[in-house]
Amino acid sequence: MINKLVGVYGASGFGREVMPIVKQQVGNQATFVFIDDGAQDNELNGFSILNFEQFLNENYDAKEVVIAIADSKIREKLAEKLRLNDIGQLNVFAANSVTLDANEIGDGAVLCPFTMVTSNVKIGKGFHANIYSYVAHDCVIGDYVTFAPNVMCNGNVNIHDHAYIGTGAIIKQGTPDKPLIIGQGAVVGMGAVVTKSVKAGDVVFGVPAKSIKRG
Ligand SMILES: CC(C)(COP(=O)(O)OP(=O)(O)OC[C@H]1O[C@@H](n2cnc3c(N)ncnc32)[C@H](O)[C@@H]1OP(=O)(O)O)[C@@H](O)C(=O)NCCC(=O)NCCS
Repeated sequence: MINKLVGVYGASGFGREVMPIVKQQVGNQATFVFIDDGAQDNELNGFSILNFEQFLNENYDAKEVVIAIADSKIREKLAEKLRLNDIGQLNVFAANSVTLDANEIGDGAVLCPFTMVTSNVKIGKGFHANIYSYVAHDCVIGDYVTFAPNVMCNGNVNIHDHAYIGTGAIIKQGTPDKPLIIGQGAVVGMGAVVTKSVKAGDVVFGVPAKSIKRG
């Protein structure tokens, strides 16, 4: 039997939420640790906290990591660090998350409990869907996109790289010939009802959602 070490990168609130999901998915045959390069403590919720160098120096036959950090730019940097060190990223799907048919989901995805990806959805690298979020049919999600809890992303929506969708936001469906687009790096505030496309880098909130820049 191989001797496996699984790291949850990020000993923060989200990391503590992801750890039990990973443990349930991987099972008892592995050893689980948090990885954190700035932690003051060396133990959290009964798991050791290692910095990345310590994680690399641990003597195991196999090592895998899930990045549990909400900041998408940090996720991208850490993914590159893992790649350079030949450490694979786990896709972590909570036992009660649901993915229906013909979806493509990139490396490093975290689907938290009660999330759903329906059918014919394409998702890039490093996607996080926090609890109770869904992505409906024919959506195309870029790399390092983050959904806070309870995001409702309806069909035919395209969300570009590094966009952040806040808690409880509702995104109106697009159509196959005219998807609703959330641009690269855009931020959708909690509780927003997004009825129109959002430009790259814009921050919108409210019902219906308006750009902060437009007041
Ligand atoms: C939209 C958002 C990005 C704006 O952040 P910000 O630029 O730091 O804005 P501020 O907190 O300075 O707020 C600016 C004003 O907008 C209001 N505001 C902020 N977010 C709002 C929202 N989502 N809906 C309605 N009004 C909002 C504030 O009350 C404040 O109003 P005021 O000027 O009358 O006092 C942020 O509030 C947000 O919604 N982030 C998502 C949070 C989230 O979902 N977290 C999940 C954690 S898992």
